[in-house]
Amino acid sequence: MSNIKNVVIIGASGNLGPTVLNQFVNSPFNVTVFSRKESNAVFPESVKVIKTDFSSESLSQNLAGQDAVICTLGGVEGFRDQARIIDAAIAAGVKRFIPSEFGSDTTSPEVLNIVPAFGPKVETIDYLKSKESEAFSWTSVIPGLFFDWGSKFGSIGFDFQNRKAAIWDGGDVAFSATNTSTVGLALVRSLSAPNLEATRNRHVFLASHTVTQNEMVTALEKLTGQSWEISNVDSALVIEGKSKEFRDGNSKAAFPLIQSSIFGKPGFCNFTGKTWNEKLGLPKEDFEADLKDILEGRKPEPFGRQVGRYPDWSDPGSK
Ligand SMILES: NC(=O)c1ccc[n+]([C@@H]2O[C@H](COP(=O)([O-])OP(=O)(O)OC[C@H]3O[C@@H](n4cnc5c(N)ncnc54)[C@H](OP(=O)(O)O)[C@@H]3O)[C@@H](O)[C@H]2O)c1
Repeated sequence: MSNIKNVVIIGASGNLGPTVLNQFVNSPFNVTVFSRKESNAVFPESVKVIKTDFSSESLSQNLAGQDAVICTLGGVEGFRDQARIIDAAIAAGVKRFIPSEFGSDTTSPEVLNIVPAFGPKVETIDYLKSKESEAFSWTSVIPGLFFDWGSKFGSIGFDFQNRKAAIWDGGDVAFSATNTSTVGLALVRSLSAPNLEATRNRHVFLASHTVTQNEMVTALEKLTGQSWEISNVDSALVIEGKSKEFRDGNSKAAFPLIQSSIFGKPGFCNFTGKTWNEKLGLPKEDFEADLKDILEGRKPEPFGRQVGRYPDWSDPGSK
């Protein structure tokens, strides 16, 4: 496969996108952002932005000459839009497509059993597999939880502001989590010439850290010199209650179900032995230094609109 030069990022204005965009702006790739016509997202002036209605016509016209597409878009409609984007990308001669995965291991039947909300992500991978050819391939990046973003915004169960922690099933389940900037760097490296063949039609697992919630409490109490207030969560009860809510149409019930699959026993987000960090030459990251950066506001990167729009991450009991 010839090298990738021109890269499109779709959904570069959300929680993950700005950090990914930042990594590409600082890479040898030429980057273009596609943003919805109605979006009021703001991007750095140096970045080429194309406003599109995501119709097949607009996509084919604007994808001409592009080598890779990265989707960091969110929401179920966004995930479902990807089939149309994939068709247009193939027609335009795009070589590599990276779908909006960026979370749990959606190849795991156990995860899918607990989190049916991942269905549209799986459908996208299945669609990509059906389109594999000499000229077209995909890469799916699986970082577990976002370590920096999830620490700050509650998905890892911690309230950094008020020094509180929701600890699941005793807190000894190891889980993998990756800083958002590392996800961005892994994307740059995955599309770089030396790794392009290795990442072809593959799930690329990442982990900045594989730790337990109890290890996080110990480190945070040491770093802050304070005791953190602990509450206990029973994953079996959450799965029972939230599965029913999800079936009844509350899409937000997906978030505590994702947490149950990660922190609940036995834990389905431990990527030990299958991460690509070393293969992609990603720098080793220091657990305590990262927690210190998060506590002191240096992480997640203050770039773009990282607002954390999942209010009930830190409160599995909320409706
Ligand atoms: N591992 C984790 O801890 C974790 C946490 C959060 C998210 N994620 C994953 O990361 C990925 C990105 O999530 P996110 O939270 O960053 O997404 P997001 O903020 O919900 O959306 C990202 C961008 O997608 C575009 N968008 C939204 N709806 C769209 C639609 N219907 N059609 C086309 N574009 C649309 C918007 O960009 P414009 O306004 O520019 O059009 C939006 O800013 C998802 O796969 C998500 O599941 C993982």
